[in-house]
Amino acid sequence: MRVLVIGSGAREHALLLALRADPEVQALAVAPGNAGTAAIADQHDVDASSAEDVVALARQLDSDLVVIGPEVPLVLGVADALRAAGIACFGPSRDAAQIEGSKAFAKDVMAAAGVRTASSEIVDSPANLDAALERFGPGAGEPAWVVKDDRLAAGKGVVVTPDRDVARAHAASLLESGHPVLLESFLDGPEVSLFCVVDGETVVPLLAAQDFKRVGDGDAGPNTGGMGAYAPLPWLPPEVYQSIVSDIVEPVAAELVRRGSPFSGLLYAGLAITSTGPAVIEFNCRFGDPETQAVLALLESPLGQLLNAAATGTLSEFGELRWRDGAAVTVVLAAENYPGPPRTGDTIVGSEGAGVLHAGTTRNEDGAIVSSGGRVLSVVGTGPDLAAARSQAYAIIDSIRLPGSHFRTDIGLAAAEGAIHV
Ligand code: AMP
Ligand code: GLY
Repeated sequence: MRVLVIGSGAREHALLLALRADPEVQALAVAPGNAGTAAIADQHDVDASSAEDVVALARQLDSDLVVIGPEVPLVLGVADALRAAGIACFGPSRDAAQIEGSKAFAKDVMAAAGVRTASSEIVDSPANLDAALERFGPGAGEPAWVVKDDRLAAGKGVVVTPDRDVARAHAASLLESGHPVLLESFLDGPEVSLFCVVDGETVVPLLAAQDFKRVGDGDAGPNTGGMGAYAPLPWLPPEVYQSIVSDIVEPVAAELVRRGSPFSGLLYAGLAITSTGPAVIEFNCRFGDPETQAVLALLESPLGQLLNAAATGTLSEFGELRWRDGAAVTVVLAAENYPGPPRTGDTIVGSEGAGVLHAGTTRNEDGAIVSSGGRVLSVVGTGPDLAAARSQAYAIIDSIRLPGSHFRTDIGLAAAEGAIHV
């Protein structure tokens, strides 16, 4: 099997490593990739959002399977174009990708499927903002306001705050730039990311993971694209995991089939485990970053064959997934000032060892690896338990040098200490 991966993050680096371990994968290419993925796959330049360019590259490489990492090409219909050209693709159609691309569509699908999620309201005029703020947050008996950019915002368009001025300012600045705002009821409880390989009504769940969205230790500071993750979740009861699959993901997959937009690819349920059970925070139409780096580190089943089964309609015959025992932890090394505009162009020392996945990296003219984005690297540690996996991840990150960089020191810590309860 000749596989082409589209994307340039540590998620794609993790996908490539797992694909490379599949004996049926003979050729591996990536576009556009980064300085780390260049070492394990043939690297090509592509505008990932251009269906025409991606199809042309897949043809040129004679790819049997294209795996699309990020949401933007999916929402733009790149998977549709590949399928129309007769090339198998792991990734949903433009219509099915609306589960991530349109919050209104996602809420509508969840309502029809009987799936619990936050109640919400769209505000599209500053004149309605103050009255709407009264219906959410502390005024409505909730600990905080949840104010979201109603467009794709790479996880950074969300402000969750008990401070009315902060909530109002975020909403007002979005409205001023002409973007509708989504206010949501606050969902309390530990978060779970559950990735499922889906083809139509067939759902194959992966290990549950937890992501750390805030930039600082103890969940301080603004939201980011994700600062770290671990898997599996020792505190998540097996029956709750099962109920997420059967009462949330399967009904949503069935509802998408019923609407004539069957989902084929990775359906990512982001949930809060509230005191009254799991509730959906959001669905994504792709693998999550950085959870993928931890989850795939434990996958024993052949990833290429799994993704190909979904892409070719044979997922129901694939059987149960096999996993390594133990735990995996990923910690993100971010550039100075991230999640604000990051400092870039600094030389990175120590980024070529085992367990180091690249994201915002490139090679300069001298061949040195330099930072080129906000989330620069993901390190992955594994071990017999979370504490051991954490030690390994932090030992790796301590051996890397990038001026001004920062990382969280508490990824997976509460779970390792047995301090998370549902
Ligand atoms: P999202 O981009 O929708 O995943 O939101 C980013 C983060 O904001 C989530 O991982 C949660 O930590 C938080 N968040 C989003 N929506 C809610 C909600 N309704 N209640 C509580 N926290 C939320
Ligand atoms: N881990 C968050 C995301 O991928 O959206």
